[in-house]
Amino acid sequence: MFNVVDHPLIKHKLTIMRNKDTGPKEFRELLREITFLLAYEATRNVETIEIDVETPLERTKGYAIEDKKMVVVPILRAGLGMVDSILELMPNASVGHIGVYRDPETLRPVQYYCKLPKIEEKSVVFLLDPMLATGFSAVHAVNILKQHGAKNIVLVCLIAAPKGVEALQTHHPDVHVYAAALDRQLNDHGYILPGLGDAGDRLYRTK
Ligand code: URA
Repeated sequence: MFNVVDHPLIKHKLTIMRNKDTGPKEFRELLREITFLLAYEATRNVETIEIDVETPLERTKGYAIEDKKMVVVPILRAGLGMVDSILELMPNASVGHIGVYRDPETLRPVQYYCKLPKIEEKSVVFLLDPMLATGFSAVHAVNILKQHGAKNIVLVCLIAAPKGVEALQTHHPDVHVYAAALDRQLNDHGYILPGLGDAGDRLYRTK
């Protein structure tokens, strides 16, 4: 299931991120803020348990999410820019990392790192990658997560391209995807158009 989270704040902030003149500090802050807003929707189906709570006046029923069952997995390196927002909302979530780079010739994912916490049947895994371009990296990361037992995976991204959405829906139709925007297409190098350029380079000023 693919969802564009349509909200004026998200559109406004994403437009500033797209601007080539926006510097790394503002870019990082905006990615953090948009992820926060996306997380509101991406966590909508997270289960709650009923708990008792003592207000200053009386005892009542309340709700708790079991954030110890949540797993956050950024795809390195651009996904790192989204981790802190999710952890602010669910501070007890575990964090894993999957390192994948794109072979510039084939655009296929090459994995160079993988460290994951224990994933249980009931875990909800939030996979983070700002750019869903060809979808190769996301499909690869989901394969790994499923091999580690993940049954409930939510991909949170900033900008998706139709090709990436199609790839994910073909290979992993059970994965829920939340994005801030669906852009037009990819260029010959696998970059999203109009996009925002290379998210990792803009976060970490490596170009
Ligand atoms: N990764 C990026 O950082 N940008 C794109 O446009 C596509 C993939």
